[in-house]
Amino acid sequence: MARFRILSVAICVFLLPFVAIEANNEDTSDFELVVRGLKEYIPSQNPPDYFNTAMENYQLTHLFREGMEDIYDNPQICYICNLAVDLVILERREGMTRDTLAEEAEYLCIHLGIESRRVCLGVIELNIDAFIYILDNYPDLTSNRICGSVLQTLGCPKGDAYEWSINLPSGNSPDRPKPNDTTDSFKILQLSDIHYDPNYTPNGNAECGEPICCQEDQGEAPSEEAACGYWTDYRDADVPWHLVEETIRQVNTQEFDYVYYTGDIINHRVWETSVTNNTNTISQLYSYFKDSFAVPVYPIFGNHEPHPLNTWPTESVTDEQFSIQWLFELAADAWSDLVGEDIRETVLKGGYYTVSPKPGFRIIAINSNLCYSFNWWLIFEDKDPYGQLQWLADTLKQAEDNNESVHILSHIPTGTSDSLSVWGREYSRIIDRFANTITGQFNGHTHKDEFSVYYNRSEPSQAVGVVFNGASLTPFSLSNPSYKLYDVDATTFALNDYEEWTFNLTLANSQPSTQSPEWYKLYSFVEAYGVESLDAVEVDKVLLKMAEDHSLLDDYFKFKFRNGDAGLAAGCDDDCQKANLCQMATTVFGEDARCNLLLDLYDQK
Ligand SMILES: *[C@@H]1O[C@H](CO)[C@@H](O)[C@H](O)[C@H]1NC(C)=O
Ligand SMILES: *[C@@H]1O[C@H](CO)[C@@H](O)[C@H](O)[C@H]1NC(C)=O
Ligand SMILES: *[C@@H]1O[C@H](CO)[C@@H](O)[C@H](O)[C@H]1NC(C)=O
Ligand SMILES: *[C@@H]1O[C@H](CO)[C@@H](O)[C@H](O)[C@H]1NC(C)=O
Ligand SMILES: *[C@@H]1O[C@H](CO)[C@@H](O)[C@H](O)[C@H]1NC(C)=O
Ligand SMILES: [Zn+2]
Ligand SMILES: [Zn+2]
Repeated sequence: MARFRILSVAICVFLLPFVAIEANNEDTSDFELVVRGLKEYIPSQNPPDYFNTAMENYQLTHLFREGMEDIYDNPQICYICNLAVDLVILERREGMTRDTLAEEAEYLCIHLGIESRRVCLGVIELNIDAFIYILDNYPDLTSNRICGSVLQTLGCPKGDAYEWSINLPSGNSPDRPKPNDTTDSFKILQLSDIHYDPNYTPNGNAECGEPICCQEDQGEAPSEEAACGYWTDYRDADVPWHLVEETIRQVNTQEFDYVYYTGDIINHRVWETSVTNNTNTISQLYSYFKDSFAVPVYPIFGNHEPHPLNTWPTESVTDEQFSIQWLFELAADAWSDLVGEDIRETVLKGGYYTVSPKPGFRIIAINSNLCYSFNWWLIFEDKDPYGQLQWLADTLKQAEDNNESVHILSHIPTGTSDSLSVWGREYSRIIDRFANTITGQFNGHTHKDEFSVYYNRSEPSQAVGVVFNGASLTPFSLSNPSYKLYDVDATTFALNDYEEWTFNLTLANSQPSTQSPEWYKLYSFVEAYGVESLDAVEVDKVLLKMAEDHSLLDDYFKFKFRNGDAGLAAGCDDDCQKANLCQMATTVFGEDARCNLLLDLYDQK
């Protein structure tokens, strides 16, 4: 049986017809040499003569960073991924050791220029054991299963993997009262993606070539322009403690009843995390929240909180070395303290919880990091990890039966290319089924001021939900730090409007460090887009308006970066505007009916 499998893998690898690959790229010959080199190198551990040069010509710089799908010839990368993974599976089945595998991965990472040497070594050392566990404990593992999820963003084929669904109660979402002018409202503060960086070094090197700059061990800035600013920096930098303090001081000049913290506390020094350091940083921030806010704070996890980042092993992973129980336990205590209620049970199970802060109002906080394509454990087991989506549906059913209005907090937006599409589809089925019960949805993660509309799955022109992204405190990258303040109807808990607050980072850094940044209201949604409220149908009207009036897309672009000079510098041409329009209309990766309709309208103008 095992023999047969190895044989069939080998046939796949060596006989896969080359003609299937688009050969219209000028790098074709380097690509071919890389392919040939991989076939020789992986089994033998001896790089053939031409291999280094070929890889140095065929660079995959920053392949795993955001937005790379626009840069590479995707069919080629998918081919390389499948080839390398098939060979590794084959070799591991034949007894290749952990250290050899790690060495080979390091060699390829460095020579393909994916990251700097120390980042390659660090990331591989942190993740290699999880890969080996998956290789060894998943007998039918195929390269499609790995490349199709890890590189979903490049559209790599998934084969027949990743297909499941959850049970939803029958019936439709019952109509519920709509907000009206005579009722009171209150405010909710959304803070997101602080990415507190204990290593942040003002005047450090902002042009460092690594995933995060302004670290004390990245040498001197080569020029004055390349020096990191005092408050933080547009160029791949996170947030120093003095900016955390400044932000809390600023928000506390305003009034709100609740705080939503939509995840990501740890900095982007992703190659060097540790349980101890993550624990210290996470605890420091939560206790600062506790001391700074007189109102409850509702936190969720970001993908950066575990060690190594992104990885959430499920119950079926039995090896203790991968356990993230330390993180669940940390959160169970800290969050219970912040929300003022014992929420340990579900937090310990999977990092999610629900509370009802007042009658008729419920908050559901979920751990959508499970669906992130860089959560390697999805390769091992992807079917509704931690039973979370089923729990979400069941919890919403109870809320529906009790006539409650629900806000959902979730770190990773479902429509993005690195959110596993089956998870996004099941999530949007839930949004559809409970459309009238859910009156607010809040995301983080992208660090962009964005929103997206969910549509009725059997009536795709009907908007049934909308999610707002908190943007981020970290500028990472190109943005001004920001937060959101929502106005919420006190009877229906529907969102009336929000204000986005920010400051000009260029200006702040040019002033004496003793002077606070000049925070200002960038815009309010209702004013900027000329609608009645943040209701899904209203927001969908904005999308249709934008397709006709492209100046609204210019505004959207500026808001995305909160007027950050570095973000604005690139400008937003037609392709950029269309991409933004589609981002707003896409909540399941790969489902683009609404996007296409809007693009048709866009092209007519
Ligand atoms: C508006 O809200 C008030 C106060 O909650 C309520 O009495 C009234 O029935 C509402 N009107 C409508 C049209 O919903
Ligand atoms: C943990 O933090 C300490 C103190 O900031 C630092 O010296 C050390 O390098 C960090 N360890 C890791 C693995 O990042
Ligand atoms: C929910 O609202 C419906 C319709 O107004 C009502 O019949 C039902 O008793 C309410 N249920 C609860 C638990 O309040
Ligand atoms: C979605 O469309 C179906 C079919 O028209 C309809 O029965 C259902 O009520 C709609 N859902 C919502 C939330 O309006
Ligand atoms: C931010 O401040 C700098 C320095 O004063 C200025 O040059 C720049 O135009 C400002 N940016 C925006 C978007 O207003
Ligand atoms: Zn983040
Ligand atoms: Zn994130």
